[in-house]
Amino acid sequence: MKIVTIIGARPQIIKAAALSRAIRNHYADRIHEVIVHTGQHYDDNMSQVFFDELGIPHPDYNLHVGSATHGVQTARMTEGIEKVLLDEKPDRIVLYGDTNSTLAGAVAASKIHVPVVHIEAGLRSFNKSMPEEINRIVCDHCSTLLFTPTKAGFDNLKREGFPIDNDGPYSIDNPKVYHCGDIMYDNSLHFSTLAEQKTQVLKRLGLEGKPYVLATLHRDSNTDCPERLNAILEAFTELSKDITIVLPMHPRTRKKAGDFHADNVIVTEPVSFLEMIQLEKHARLVLTDSGGVQKESYFFQKPCVILRPETEWVEIVETDAATLADADKTKILEASLRYLQHPPVDFPALFGDGHAAEFMLDKMIQL
Ligand code: UD1
Ligand code: UDP
Repeated sequence: MKIVTIIGARPQIIKAAALSRAIRNHYADRIHEVIVHTGQHYDDNMSQVFFDELGIPHPDYNLHVGSATHGVQTARMTEGIEKVLLDEKPDRIVLYGDTNSTLAGAVAASKIHVPVVHIEAGLRSFNKSMPEEINRIVCDHCSTLLFTPTKAGFDNLKREGFPIDNDGPYSIDNPKVYHCGDIMYDNSLHFSTLAEQKTQVLKRLGLEGKPYVLATLHRDSNTDCPERLNAILEAFTELSKDITIVLPMHPRTRKKAGDFHADNVIVTEPVSFLEMIQLEKHARLVLTDSGGVQKESYFFQKPCVILRPETEWVEIVETDAATLADADKTKILEASLRYLQHPPVDFPALFGDGHAAEFMLDKMIQL
């Protein structure tokens, strides 16, 4: 079976590491993977570092689309992906998450009848002003195989009318939904020990043996709205009077808040995945608007203050391991101080058994 995997943004490159590893270890005789990097992310620390560190094969194609408006970026990707699909004639296309690279892959493939496999299907914020919400809905409805990482994702698809107990043959008109756990959990388990052994990030940032809070920020609704951005940065400044904050800064945020500084806030370039895991594992608390970082904080049993009004990962809020604080300075500070004083102790297993990749590959072969 030949699959074409589309990656483009940082989290997709990281997710692809889990699937590529499982193919290499268990399915090399049955699955040939062709990797297409759209070039959505292109700085070394947003892309190449993950190939070097996580053992992902070098992409077979790089479309080099770069940054642009949604329409232009998605159009360039769609054109490039369609050409690759026509040349490679794969049996399936594999798409991750909800970025413009995901959307372009879904549209290009479904129109020329290449079955779409969507990993991280079914998630909804119920906020269509998020570009990601549009991307996920379109991709789910173009898919033949949908893998939901959580029960909430599965229930969302059921509510949208996806068949649940249907038999094959499966197609875009008779899609199959599986709830199978989270591929990012596979990665966090796999790389956790390695992160401890291989990275010096705590030493490099002067954080060894020191309590600190890890923060990330990149959602366009936060970076591109000065009031929201200021409120969040003011909350960071205020909180840093009590505890050091380390903030690996996404390039989108750097463009809008590159001059931000506060005495006890360590602003760094984006870090590698192993470094990030190490920072997550040793943090007292995580503040973030990232989908992936919300989950990883849960994997490593750290409380999380979510810098958004809603989340797709509703289960972690329901367990009170995470709190929605939006871009509200007071709420961010209240939730942070509460977690620092009374860290949650209960982190029930929500994200599978760490073998989601193998499950998905088995189902792809059966399809
Ligand atoms: C994208 C995804 C978002 C995901 C995030 C992960 C969409 C619509 N958004 O958001 O869902 O959470 O990736 O990080 O697909 N830039 C650089 N260097 C890079 C990449 C980007 O400088 O290597 C800058 C450019 O100024 C660019 C801006 O960051 O305009 C935004 O990049 P883009 O890929 O459009 O969106 P993200 O905010 O990264
Ligand atoms: N990440 C990383 N270095 C950083 C920030 C994030 O390796 O400096 C990783 C993080 O551990 C997670 C993924 O990138 O696995 C999340 O990506 P991001 O926050 O960019 O996007 P989202 O998950 O919100 O789509």
